[in-house]
Amino acid sequence: MRLNGKTALVTGAGGGLGGAIAKRFAAEGASVLCTDRDLARADATVSAILESGGTASALTVDIGDAADCEAQVAETVGRYGRIDILVNNAGVSLHRLALETSIEDWERVLRINLTGSFLTAQAAARRMAAQGSGRIIQVGSISGQRGNMGGIAYGASKAAVMHICKVLAVELSAKGVMVNAIAPGPIETGLSVHGPTRKKGYIDRIPAGEYGTADAVANAALFFASDECEWITGHVLNVDGGYGGAGVAYDPAEIATRS
Ligand SMILES: NC(=O)c1ccc[n+]([C@@H]2O[C@H](COP(=O)([O-])OP(=O)(O)OC[C@H]3O[C@@H](n4cnc5c(N)ncnc54)[C@H](O)[C@@H]3O)[C@@H](O)[C@H]2O)c1
Repeated sequence: MRLNGKTALVTGAGGGLGGAIAKRFAAEGASVLCTDRDLARADATVSAILESGGTASALTVDIGDAADCEAQVAETVGRYGRIDILVNNAGVSLHRLALETSIEDWERVLRINLTGSFLTAQAAARRMAAQGSGRIIQVGSISGQRGNMGGIAYGASKAAVMHICKVLAVELSAKGVMVNAIAPGPIETGLSVHGPTRKKGYIDRIPAGEYGTADAVANAALFFASDECEWITGHVLNVDGGYGGAGVAYDPAEIATRS
């Protein structure tokens, strides 16, 4: 098992991606603290892990609250003795045009997605630096790399969530802490229920021709958390079916007519 004896904190572990990551980590031998603002959802993830013979427990946390960010890290250490891995996954979306985005909208999304992620990473990194090892995995988004219509606050928050990994990597790698980020493409979860136009827009631009799965993201997170991830820090890994690198696709028959 690739995470045997490790301890992990997964935020937003009651959700689609966080649930898959927590279950995958537990299946690989990690003890996992599953936090979420919705305790029933975190409990469902924990129950699935316990039924499979893994080790996990739940905690209610609002990452929009600074004290809760520190508390979830302290609780991981309190319950399991140390914190080896943090997956900063909890987040909210907002679909609102820039000219209709209020200061309240902006501050809510930035406080949860960005400030919550920073304060939790900071709290975890303090323990990890003291113990001389640790892994922090930021969950960003392709929406932080491209200018999506209606994505001003969400996209800005996710761009910054991914940027955090670069600064932390520079400041912490000599202390044994590696920090990387994942940028998922569209995956159907409670957060991303897309209408037909938006769905077609994505499918047309994803060379793989389909939405991704939560398991694909969990596999990427497992790599960053595992010992196989060696001397790799400050990276953003797109898990996006090729969307991030894609140019224009067009009719192969037209290509055949060109010299
Ligand atoms: N699903 C996608 O297509 C997609 C794509 C790119 C990035 N992401 C990112 O992946 C992460 C997980 O999203 P998901 O798709 O699993 O969504 P989800 O809604 O299924 O899960 C998000 C979880 O975070 C929790 N949460 C929300 N606000 C919180 C808060 N203030 N404190 C604590 N917990 C809170 C929710 O209760 C929920 O369980 C998010 O950061 C999201 O931005 C998702």
